[in-house]
Amino acid sequence: MDFDNLLLERDGAVAVVTVNRPPVLNALNSATLDDLRRAALSLKHDPDVRAIIVTGSGDKSFVAGADINELAVLNPVQFKQHALRGQHVFDLIENLGKPTIAAINGYALGGGCELAMACTLRIAADTARIGQPEINLGIIPGYGGTQRLARLVGKGVALELLLSGRQLTADEALQIGLVNRVVPAATLLPNARSLAAELALKAPIAVQYIIESVNKGLEVSFDKAQFLEATLFGLSASTDDMREGTRAFLEKRKPDFKGR
Ligand code: COA
Repeated sequence: MDFDNLLLERDGAVAVVTVNRPPVLNALNSATLDDLRRAALSLKHDPDVRAIIVTGSGDKSFVAGADINELAVLNPVQFKQHALRGQHVFDLIENLGKPTIAAINGYALGGGCELAMACTLRIAADTARIGQPEINLGIIPGYGGTQRLARLVGKGVALELLLSGRQLTADEALQIGLVNRVVPAATLLPNARSLAAELALKAPIAVQYIIESVNKGLEVSFDKAQFLEATLFGLSASTDDMREGTRAFLEKRKPDFKGR
């Protein structure tokens, strides 16, 4: 599969997607969003891929936001269409049914912060800077940022970040739960690869159900969410992997999950 602005690498069950537009700090234009959409769909449907890392080229930036050169010439209707396209791609990433890990290697601003929030987990280099600076351009986030940020860090903290446009350090992002871990920049990718490899060994169907139960459950009432959880719990009991997991426990060995 050919991409203009992405690098896609496979390492066993782990895929690494690198946004690759160094001259603009990996800013997302329409072509890059479309590359991300096509990559996400191909990884979703590849049963041999069990975990995905998303990162940016170079050591300065993860993704510095939507491409402002492109935004600057859009009319309001095109602006809305652009937001809907970005939201669609990030929804796809959030609901891939496989763990995605954002390895935040520098600036994750605007669409970069939104891309990282669409991922299942986030590991930040200690040099990373994270925020939603759209307010400083006189606009608001358009790729789900107002919604995912409030869900991840709570309404009050989200509103402060969205209204101030402030860039957080990696440690500040860790304190508010915006990232899961902070590691020295030089160890970011090895850390992300090791976490991805660990998750790739888990039972894929149960992994998918956990992600679905959390994502879909947060959108509905608590009792409906619990009903969904019970249903997916029941379905997980129908898998070969459930039998393998329980048998391996009783036989005191590591399970070998097949995703069936
Ligand atoms: N869209 C388009 N181009 C961008 C960009 C974006 N979101 N972010 C950075 N660039 C470009 C710059 O225009 C510059 O291009 P040039 O070399 O042709 O002048 C190049 O990337 C390097 O950026 P620069 O601003 O010179 O680097 P810096 O180290 O001084 O600052 C940032 C880095 C990330 C703080 C700064 O680039 C920035 O604020 N970017 C915009 C972030 C933003 O508002 N994102 C939300 C967009 S909706």
